Amino acid sequence: MYIVQIASECAPVIKAGGLGDVVYGLSRELGIRGHGVEIILPKYDCMRYDHIWGMHNAYRDLEVPWDGGAINCSVDCGWVHGQLCFFIEPHSSDDFFNRGCYYGCLDDHMRFAFFSKAALEFLLKTNKCPDVIHCHDWQTGLVPVMLYEIYQYHGLENQRVCYTIHNFKHQGIAGANLLEVAGLYRQEYYYDIDRLGDDQNATAINLMKGGIVYSNYINTVSPHHAWEARFTEVGCGLGHTLHKHQHKFGGILNGIDYNVWNPEVDRYIPYHYSQDNLEEKLKNKKALRERLWLGHSQKPIVCYIGRLDDQKGVHLVHHAIYYAQNRGAQFVLLGSATEPGINDHFWHEKQHLNNSPDCHIEIGFNEELAHLIYAGADMIVVPSNYEPCGLTQMIGLKYGTVPIVRGVGGLVNTVFDRDYDQNKPPEERNGYVFYQTDNQALESALDRAIDLWYKKPKEFRKLVIQGMEYDYSWNHPGAQYVGIYDYIRHK
Ligand code: ADP
Ligand code: GLC
Repeated sequence: MYIVQIASECAPVIKAGGLGDVVYGLSRELGIRGHGVEIILPKYDCMRYDHIWGMHNAYRDLEVPWDGGAINCSVDCGWVHGQLCFFIEPHSSDDFFNRGCYYGCLDDHMRFAFFSKAALEFLLKTNKCPDVIHCHDWQTGLVPVMLYEIYQYHGLENQRVCYTIHNFKHQGIAGANLLEVAGLYRQEYYYDIDRLGDDQNATAINLMKGGIVYSNYINTVSPHHAWEARFTEVGCGLGHTLHKHQHKFGGILNGIDYNVWNPEVDRYIPYHYSQDNLEEKLKNKKALRERLWLGHSQKPIVCYIGRLDDQKGVHLVHHAIYYAQNRGAQFVLLGSATEPGINDHFWHEKQHLNNSPDCHIEIGFNEELAHLIYAGADMIVVPSNYEPCGLTQMIGLKYGTVPIVRGVGGLVNTVFDRDYDQNKPPEERNGYVFYQTDNQALESALDRAIDLWYKKPKEFRKLVIQGMEYDYSWNHPGAQYVGIYDYIRHK
């Protein structure tokens, strides 16, 4: 099959979070399975050019109809760790992607609506005829809409769309003029509640809803979250739409790219290891302490790696920093915050705590340091309010870093409580799970983990190894996506 992914991120060249990992990892898996895969991305000024090989111009003057006129783009192409990627760049006067950031601009809806249109225009002009177009999140929600309403009449008539929702919270709620600017002129038709009309705001359109309504198949990134999205508030108002389209909706658990996230081959960690030589993990712990000026003591290290926002349960992250230290652990946090209030809060904590030998807080995005923390820590906390899938707990498992998670979304599908999970035999349990959002719930899970580390080191080691034995590679999800592509192609 020939599959084109259209996305706003692809790791490691463009990565704000797990979406980047998934777009790259899934593409690589599909390639290994013998499928042709190409990825279309915006060409951001701030992406990591050092991860692109053989960058060259692929299309000079791509004229994209826009706002009654046209915007010219050039399209560059290059290899990102073996994966062919195309980067769309509007010509200089249109600065959509030269903002020094991936997201967070006031005109994000315009930027990504334009990107969606340019990606389709590129397929059309280069006579690329993928069997399946795979789009991700609200940023590309207009792709299936425009494919069906515009581009099928110009030659893209045999393409099927798989649309993956990684986060229901960000839906791309846009105002009236966007559709017209994008060339979708029958505004009233699109405003219909059964199409793009937003359920909560009658004067707005919802790009994610467009993706759901117009795609041939939609999924979110874990089975449990697929259920939550339909039946709980976690669907952020789209539960009803998902009900309506349930015949083409499912949950597929993400994988982890074990070429990138694997302590046996990880290029960013000083000592490689597997479950057979865990002493080497201890050496990484020492290296981590040296790097972050932590004291060398007989203590476990608890870590948090992730975005710092409401989704991730920041109040519990904050509590964990102090509680873990009170219980005799060291704490390492690597977090990136986009909300000023949260950012300021953790900067303040950093000033306050970083002189301590038992705590280090690092604010910002640092891929290399993340690898060393996964390898050097003993436990990772993921106290999310909601979590469509979550990759950090799965990476933690692979690195022998025991996850302590809240039982929501994909965390439910991947972490099984050592003491209480009734559905798994003891030898298949791999971490700690708590359910409530209060401090006490987190504390009791941390207590159990830290106690085991101190009082029953052999049992803790067993738990570590059980976690490392789990296979959360792309192998299984890759096969599931191929099954879906096949299904929508022949439907
Ligand atoms: P989300 O996509 O909601 O942010 P995931 O758990 O799916 O959460 O994926 C997060 C990914 O981003 C992981 O690869 C994690 O290691 C990485 N990550 C998150 N925050 C940072 C950071 N501050 N520095 C480096 N890597 C980070
Ligand atoms: C989202 C979700 C996260 C998921 C990631 C990749 O950003 O917040 O749970 O793992 O996408 O699918």
